[in-house]
Amino acid sequence: MKQSSQSHSLLIRNGHLIDPVARVDALMDILLRDGQVSEIAPPNKIRSGADEKFDAKGLIVAPGFIDLHVHLREPGQNYKETIASGTAAAAAGGFTSVCCMPNTMPVLDSPEWVTWVRQPQRGAVVNVFPVGSATQASKGAVLTDFRALQRAGAVAVTDDGKPILNETTMRDALRSSAEINFPIVQHAEDTRLTQNCSMHEGPTSLRLGLRGMTDAAEAAIVDRDVQLAQQFSGARLHVAHLSTAEALTAVRRGKRNRARVTCEVTPHHFALTDSDVRDYDTNFKMNPPLRSASDREALLAALGDGTVDAIATDHAPHAPHEKVVEFERAAFGVTGLETALGLAITVLHGRQKMPLARIVELLTAGPARVVDLRGRGTLLRGSHADVTIFDPKKRWTFDAAKSRSKSHNTPFDGWQMTGKVVATIVAGRIVYRSS
Ligand code: DOR
Ligand code: ZN
Repeated sequence: MKQSSQSHSLLIRNGHLIDPVARVDALMDILLRDGQVSEIAPPNKIRSGADEKFDAKGLIVAPGFIDLHVHLREPGQNYKETIASGTAAAAAGGFTSVCCMPNTMPVLDSPEWVTWVRQPQRGAVVNVFPVGSATQASKGAVLTDFRALQRAGAVAVTDDGKPILNETTMRDALRSSAEINFPIVQHAEDTRLTQNCSMHEGPTSLRLGLRGMTDAAEAAIVDRDVQLAQQFSGARLHVAHLSTAEALTAVRRGKRNRARVTCEVTPHHFALTDSDVRDYDTNFKMNPPLRSASDREALLAALGDGTVDAIATDHAPHAPHEKVVEFERAAFGVTGLETALGLAITVLHGRQKMPLARIVELLTAGPARVVDLRGRGTLLRGSHADVTIFDPKKRWTFDAAKSRSKSHNTPFDGWQMTGKVVATIVAGRIVYRSS
């Protein structure tokens, strides 16, 4: 992020502030000054002048959204996405901070590459927090230097795209995690059980004649890792894109036993099921795959009851030549930054009656806690001036062709949604405004 050193202030007036950390759910004005939250007060009480004013009447004002799981594809795959295009899509989706995955080319397994991602020349329009690779080249064998990655600005480590499969490697990773207070993000998939699979195993995979991944392939790894995490006091395990009821059971057990276990769920997993994989449409192919209706029900319950810590998009852009091919040959992954809020409000608030405050928590304070983003995920005085303003009632239709992302591989093209981002503010400056 480029930071301007000039003094600047922005007053957001007449909005309805939802800040779960501050326990505020009421009409409030907010003054942002020089990159920080300077004042919060009931409407018309702030007396200080401001360079710029934003009228948020009828809108929700929330801490800036944080996405724990985004593939920005740089270095090396800028034909799919760049840090500039991916963060432009993030801003349009209301995200003021994104954590980017290390499965780039080369892999982000050194402090030099972590530093490279964070350089202003990359043209990021929102905050980018890199996640380093957990093992060298993400090959799963030799751990990287966690401390060096942490010093360079990585907020966690992962081999995402692949699991840390070897038990000894995972045990060593969790031991180090406890020593330096650093989260290990696990892509929970026992790849010995999922070779050549392209969707979830169930009636649909049988009908389509596609080899299916079982729930057990996810749950086995989560189960093992939760047990390992309990062996090292202070070890931090974060389960990426959790998708099955069985894996939730393991996470709940860990939380009950006071292990530092957290998890995230994607919008596509709470909005869709494997039966949506019709006609071999590769925009419905991702890993983990869309699961059964009962898995989805379990995710909805866990999002509501506090078991799930964050909504994360797993924004995974791919080019047409990687997606417009036979289902089994297509790349795994879907884009997600611009549809996350609309899906959350439409599905979780509209249909499940989840309070907006809980949705805001899953997009702000929840993810901020998972990777310790201090002074973010809340608008308490003195916090970073990252703000998302949205209209919870606005009906709109998502047009993938108009996406800011370089890639358009989404299952939600043409979807009617309720809830739309109106403005995204990073460090006190408006970086996105809906037209
Ligand atoms: O669907 C996915 N896409 N799952 C992953 O784990 C990796 C990701 C990617 O990098 O495209
Ligand atoms: Zn993954």
